[in-house]
Amino acid sequence: MDTFSVDIFDPKIYEAQRRPFAEADSLPAWCYTSEAFYRREVDRIFMKVWNFLGRTDQIPNPGDYYALEFAGVPIIITRDKDNQVRAFANTCRHRGAMLLEAGEGNCRAIKCPYHGWVYGLDGSLQGAPDMDETRGFCKEDYGLVPVRLETWGGFMYVNFDPNAEPLMDYLGDLPAILKSHDLDGMVTVRRQEYLLDCNWKLFVENAMEGYHIPTVHQATISKHKAKKPAVQDVKGEFVLLYTQQKGSRALMPGDTGFPEIQTLDERAQNGSFYPNIYPSTMFCCTQDCMWYLEVHPLGPNKMKLIHGACFPKPITQRNDFEDVVKRYYKRWDKTADEDNSISEVQHRGISSPLTRPGRLSFLEPLVYTIDNWVLDRVLGEKTPAGSGIYE
Ligand code: FES
Ligand SMILES: [Fe+2]
Repeated sequence: MDTFSVDIFDPKIYEAQRRPFAEADSLPAWCYTSEAFYRREVDRIFMKVWNFLGRTDQIPNPGDYYALEFAGVPIIITRDKDNQVRAFANTCRHRGAMLLEAGEGNCRAIKCPYHGWVYGLDGSLQGAPDMDETRGFCKEDYGLVPVRLETWGGFMYVNFDPNAEPLMDYLGDLPAILKSHDLDGMVTVRRQEYLLDCNWKLFVENAMEGYHIPTVHQATISKHKAKKPAVQDVKGEFVLLYTQQKGSRALMPGDTGFPEIQTLDERAQNGSFYPNIYPSTMFCCTQDCMWYLEVHPLGPNKMKLIHGACFPKPITQRNDFEDVVKRYYKRWDKTADEDNSISEVQHRGISSPLTRPGRLSFLEPLVYTIDNWVLDRVLGEKTPAGSGIYE
């Protein structure tokens, strides 16, 4: 289909993607390459949902802050002097200058680099020089614009939509499913950042299917072969892949690591959980640790990936932690390179004007589910494909 002659937001042209899974096509290429499609995703998805931004232990002390841009919006996350974690728009209430450059740090107050207005870490305007002749000006009215931030299990989520449902409603059944991993009691031990030349959906689709494991991960984890997933409905804005197996999935075959998390329930002792919290937050909860894939969309053709690793706190205090954790890092670094590079290879192929939608294997139901979730929002129409556990 010629992209220039079609209205890419006309629901009728997605008939082949909206069929039942076994009959459906993959998404047309423009969903991954078009600037207009991406803008619509930002407006209708990233500006509306709970966006994952790592853990509160990245800013452990009062005065710590983390400034970043998410989906084009500069924000600041702070821990104020009462230990409360908050988020604000990174823009001065005087004439809009950006207050902090991207990065992490600690400060007593945030001072605008332009005319020196000063804000507390709770967002209140504390100093505004030479404003005494400005009629009706009241400092209380010019605090930083708050951004909703809520946490679950030590993880931070922000939402740019003041009317969005609370985070816990958005997550539905997921916190209960992962309860026995005691995510609150974990500590982030590493955050690795990668810039990828691919659309964010290609990366998410890859992470949620096991079809590529024997080929892409031939040299590393090809023994983790996927089985045909069976689906159970759940409540919440996520899909979850559960794979039954004994032993940590965070190690290369043959390596040994840390003992199992002590609080695991029976299901968690016998398998690993891979939820994708819509649209793009992937957790991997295995028997001895969890790792996450934090996706920041940067445009139709670019994304940032932050690969975070978390272990139970007592494990991180062991004398042999630094030595043993290297085996986990080896596994993650190698497989991240494999997944990152195949996602870029796919993006290069899909950017060809001659590419066409394809068909999906029975090992790729979540590609279908996630893509239809995106289409629901971008097109503004609902289909039955929603949340579920795939075992
Ligand atoms: S723009 Fe910040 S003090 Fe003027
Ligand atoms: Fe992979």
